[in-house]
Amino acid sequence: MKSKSFIAFFILSTTLLFLYISHKTPLPTTTAAAAIPDLKIRPGYTTYESYIHHQLNKTLNPKLREIWKTRDWDRKIRVFAGFFGDLKQKNLLSNSSKALSVGARMGQEVEALKRVGVSDSIGLDLVPSSPLVVRGDFHHQPFDDGSFDFEFSNVFDHALYPEKFVGEIERTLRPGGVCVLHVALKRRSDKYSANDLFSVEPLKKLFKRSELVHVRPVDGFGLDTEVVFRRKPVTRAL
Ligand SMILES: C[S@@+](CC[C@H](N)C(=O)[O-])C[C@H]1O[C@@H](n2cnc3c(N)ncnc32)[C@H](O)[C@@H]1O
Repeated sequence: MKSKSFIAFFILSTTLLFLYISHKTPLPTTTAAAAIPDLKIRPGYTTYESYIHHQLNKTLNPKLREIWKTRDWDRKIRVFAGFFGDLKQKNLLSNSSKALSVGARMGQEVEALKRVGVSDSIGLDLVPSSPLVVRGDFHHQPFDDGSFDFEFSNVFDHALYPEKFVGEIERTLRPGGVCVLHVALKRRSDKYSANDLFSVEPLKKLFKRSELVHVRPVDGFGLDTEVVFRRKPVTRAL
C-alpha cells in the first residue's frame, strides 16, 4: 500500500515539475529571423507566456475596447475599405475571395472587407470578437493548408517569430493567393511590438514560397508601406 502511494506521489510530483519547467522555459536566444539584417527582434520577453501576456494586456483593456467599438469603429472601417477597394481594382482581391485578416482585434478590417463585397471574410486574434474575429495565435494559425485566397495583416511587428508568422500565412494561403501586409519602415511602433523592420528585404527573405507583387507607400494608422506577395504555384519534383 505504502509503495503504491509512493508511486502515485512520484508520478504526480514529476508531472507538476515538468509542467512548471515547461511553463517557465526561456525563449531561445536566437531565432532564424534574428539573423536577418534590417529585422530586429525586441529583447525582453523571457518566456512565450510573458509575450502573450503583454499582448493581451492591451487587447483586453476594457476602456480601450469600448473606444475601439464606438469612437474608432466607423473611422477605421472607412480607411480599411479604401485600401481593400483599391486592391479590388488591382485584381488582387475579389468578391469571391475567401479572406482572412491576421491580428484583427475588434474586426474593423473584416467589416471593411464585407462592406466592399468580400462576404466570406474572417479575422484571427488572441482575443475573439464575435462574429467577425475568431480566437487563435498567428504563430500557429488554426486553419487548414490552402484555406484562403487573400490574407491581410497590419500586425507583422507583433510577431515574436516572424518566420512562423510568414510561414503560417504561406501555409494557409492557396497557391496563387495574395498576402497584403501593412508595415512601418520609417517609424518605430509602440511598446507592444515584438520586432522592428527597417526595409522590405527581410520580408522578401521570409516569404520563401511567394513572389513580390508590389511595394507602395500607404497611410494606415501609423503604418507607411504596403507590401504584397502572391503565393507561387506548387511545383512537384519529377
Ligand atoms: C496593433 S493591434 C492591430 C489591430 C487591428 N489589426 C487594427 O488595425 O485595428 C495588434 C493586434 O495583434 C494581436 N496579436 C498580438 N499577438 C498576436 C498573436 N501571437 N496571435 C494573434 N494575434 C496577436 C493583438 O491582440 C492585437 O489585437
